Order: sequence, then C-alpha cells, then structure tokens
Amino acid sequence: MLEIKGLRTVFPTSKGEVVAAKDVDLTMEPGQIIGLVGESGCGKSVTMLSILRLVPHPGRIVSGQVLFFGEDLVKKSPLEMRRIRGKEIAMIFQDPMTTLNPVFKVGEQIRESLRIHGIMSEQAGSWPWGARYRLQAERDKVIQLMEEVGIPSPQARYHEYPHQFSGGMQQRALIAIALACEPRLLLADEPTTALDVTIQAQILDLLRRINETHGTGIILVTHDLGVAAEFCEEIVVMYAGQIVERGPTDEVIQRPLHPYTRGLLRSIPRITREKRKLEPIPGVVPDLANLKYNCAFYDRCDAALPKCEHDELELRDVGGGRLVRCVLY
Ligand SMILES: Nc1ncnc2c1ncn2[C@@H]1O[C@H](COP(=O)(O)OP(=O)(O)OP(=O)(O)O)[C@@H](O)[C@H]1O
Ligand SMILES: [Mg+2]
Repeated sequence: MLEIKGLRTVFPTSKGEVVAAKDVDLTMEPGQIIGLVGESGCGKSVTMLSILRLVPHPGRIVSGQVLFFGEDLVKKSPLEMRRIRGKEIAMIFQDPMTTLNPVFKVGEQIRESLRIHGIMSEQAGSWPWGARYRLQAERDKVIQLMEEVGIPSPQARYHEYPHQFSGGMQQRALIAIALACEPRLLLADEPTTALDVTIQAQILDLLRRINETHGTGIILVTHDLGVAAEFCEEIVVMYAGQIVERGPTDEVIQRPLHPYTRGLLRSIPRITREKRKLEPIPGVVPDLANLKYNCAFYDRCDAALPKCEHDELELRDVGGGRLVRCVLY
C-alpha cells in the first residue's frame, strides 16, 4: 500500500540545513498497524507531513519517493494531492484544539469533509435530489459517524462548538472527520498524548475497531514505546531523522537490537514483581543542523565502538523481518 524510498526532507535554518527526515525507507501493507516511535524532535511528524506533502515552509522534500499503491505522491500536482488528502489518506494531527475550527459547529465541520470530497453527491448518483435532501443525507451520515466514534447524543452535539467538547471528545470528532471518506490509510500523529490514560485507552480501542471493521491501515506516531507495543503489529524506531530499527512488536520488545531502542525500553515503567530502576537515556537528541558523527546516537550510546564515529551505516536486514542501523549487526 505504502512504500517510502529514500525520503529526505530538509529545513534551511540560520544554523545550517536541518535534515529532519534522512533517507527514510518504510513499507506498509494494507490494513497493517505500524507504530512510529522516538523522542521529541526526531522527525516523526515531518515524515508523516511529507507523505501528505504538507511540510511547512521553508521545509521541502529534496529527494525520495512516496509510493501509494504504486503512484509517487512526491510527483503529484497540488490539485491531485488535494484529492488524495482526506479521501485516500487522512491525518489526525498532534493537537485537537488547534485543528478544530473554534467558530464552527462540530457537526458542520464533520459534514464539511464529506462535502469537499463530494461523498454524498457521489452516492446519490443521478437522483433528482434537491439540495435540501442532500443536506439531510449528509447530516444523517455525520450523526452516524459521531455515533461510530462514540460521541454520546450526537443529535444534540452536532450543534455544539469545539470548546463545549472535552479533550477526548474533540479527538473523537477529529477521528470522525478523518473517517468521513473512509480513507485507506490513517496517519495518527500522537492522537492520545494530550489525554489522560483512561481516555487514551478508549481512543486506541476506537482506532483498533476502525482498523478491524474498515481495514484502514494506521501509522500511529507516539513517543511512548509502551503504547506502540500494545497497539501495533510492527514498530519502527526513529532517531535524529533516521529509522534505526524496525521489526515485529514482540521481537522488538523482547529482543531490542539497536542501543537506542534498548534505552527507550529501559526508560518505560513496567509492572513487575521485582523493583527496577527506570534509567533515562543520558544526554539529549543532537542538534540536527550540526551532526558530528556518522551515527547520530554515538555520543549517547553505551555500546559505542571507535569505528561508530566514521563507519558507513545502512539499515540492514538481519532476518526475521527485522532491520537495524548499527555497526554491531
Ligand atoms: N518549521 C520548522 N522549521 C525548522 N525546523 C523544523 C521545523 N519543523 C521541524 N523542524 C525540525 O525537524 C525536526 C523534527 O521535527 P518533528 O516535528 O518531525 O519531530 P517529532 O519527532 O514529531 O517530535 P515531537 O515528538 O515533539 O512531535 C526538529 O527537530 C526540527 O529540528
Ligand atoms: Mg511530532
């Protein structure tokens, strides 16, 4: 369904060029759920925005391909992209309150996404429906969508404004907007980060149900390896703009290969009998405009060797569906 090859997205800054996505390769089958994890600033959002060609100015994609069912999205015209966004590939953005428009009723905002892509008029075909009937059909569909994402009393809440919705309900409304056109791929950028743990679990349940009933492929972006482990079949770990490890979830959790993944695992709390100290990864994500070593993780790595400084690094296939970018393998 999706095949990203050698994607490179850069931001020119006063300190030099920041390579926010550095030769990203990623493949995904229809209906799959993939978790993209990594610390803040490692390029997760930029990679998602690159897929939809929504990288904010002055950032730009300098090379690579984003094949969606074999068609390269990097080469599409702005008009073609507008048709694909929302209809074929939808995205849920990081912060619900800034994505919903505060001055429009929530129901109307969901209806807007149906209208833009002409969903109801398509289904109505050549029926001699007046505009009023179509409006009613669209409203019915919106109510049905609101029900599906678990917004209680949708008839009444259709007419409410975003500020009357709680954080969790706003997120559900955004998911309804994303689902309106039944996209084949859903990019969910930290959809639960702003929510408390109970609501977080409900939203993840909802996403899983959508995946099961509609076969929607999902890329879940999260900085929380624990969330990705529970929710995704495969985990992709990103560091400093690069994918450093990929593999089936159970394998990655039980036998992490890259020292960065091992560090991430040691820093998440787990309920076990034995007391275990949480170990943060020492240091911080390096300045992307000024990378000193060939391996961006070199100066934080507990397994670093002298050759890590200079040796060429590629994402290597180590068998069993696992890929890792590290000289140790
Ligand atoms: N508008 C911008 N201008 C300049 N640099 C940017 C811009 N947006 C992103 N970047 C650079 O791209 C890098 C990756 O940013 P991105 O938003 O993809 O991180 P992220 O992994 O999504 O982090 P978070 O978990 O905080 O959302 C940042 O470290 C930053 O250096
Ligand atoms: Mg982000």
